[in-house]
Amino acid sequence: MDTLTELGATPLSPALGAEVTGIDLRHGMSGETAAQILELWRRYLVLVFRDQDLSTEGQRRFASNFGTLRERQRGGTKFAKSKYALWEGDPNIRDDPNLLLVSNVTVDGKPIGSLAEGDMWFHIDSGYAERPYKYTILHAIKLPSEGGNTLFANMYRAYEALPRDLRDRLKGRKALHIHEYKRREKVNLGEDFSNSPHAFHPVFTTHPETGRKSLFVDRLMTARLEGFAPEESAALLDQLFDHAERPENIYAHVWRYGDVVMWDNRCVTHGRTNFPKDQERILRRCTIEGEPPFE
Ligand code: OGA
Ligand code: MN
Repeated sequence: MDTLTELGATPLSPALGAEVTGIDLRHGMSGETAAQILELWRRYLVLVFRDQDLSTEGQRRFASNFGTLRERQRGGTKFAKSKYALWEGDPNIRDDPNLLLVSNVTVDGKPIGSLAEGDMWFHIDSGYAERPYKYTILHAIKLPSEGGNTLFANMYRAYEALPRDLRDRLKGRKALHIHEYKRREKVNLGEDFSNSPHAFHPVFTTHPETGRKSLFVDRLMTARLEGFAPEESAALLDQLFDHAERPENIYAHVWRYGDVVMWDNRCVTHGRTNFPKDQERILRRCTIEGEPPFE
């Protein structure tokens, strides 16, 4: 049980995001504290906790307050343990199936983590799955001197600010989401994607807890709108992406060592800015299982 009495929350941008103070995440927390965090999460969509020092086990324990941790996989097979064993900075992660490293670091030419270097287009984590992750929780372990900022877009606001005619046209429609490993280019619909994970989800989804509607598409992995000609689908999607990624709808997180940043994939998309290739960046990540999205 924790002895916490008061959590503070300071908004980080007009669009979304808040910094939460008054808690050391290493300590176990009461159900009441977890409920308070959830309430802040529903209000601000992205929560930032500064100066934290979570071990692998500590991160898993903290994350478990918010649901079932997702097991890391690739193409249906479990990640080789050896990938994580390469990094000596965290021997515990090797045997932990629920945590992974987001990193560009290599040891003997082999990457120790996923999502390596460079910028990344806006995306929903595992939007291509039948049950996309509910939450993603990252902890900063090593950072470059500049760049590698994570950008968050408020997809409730994107939905609410859509022109009426677009909302009417897309109501009840679905979009195809396809897994794209390249991070800054779209899936080529001309190629056979049957072996890439993919799923259809409503263009507009309702958040099961807040009841608010979101725009549920992203530039990286939303490939096509069902029921439109290819050119029309492409033009509409571009319009939706540009609309969602307008600066006033974004919070740009500039990472600090020790940060824990967590977001709700049901109402937030995220991307990443470029950073120097010759500098190491390591974030430890876990995700929480989700449910099929519905309109
Ligand atoms: C992720 C992700 C962004 C980043 O972990 O899903 O997109 O800034 N990370 O590395
Ligand atoms: Mn991501």
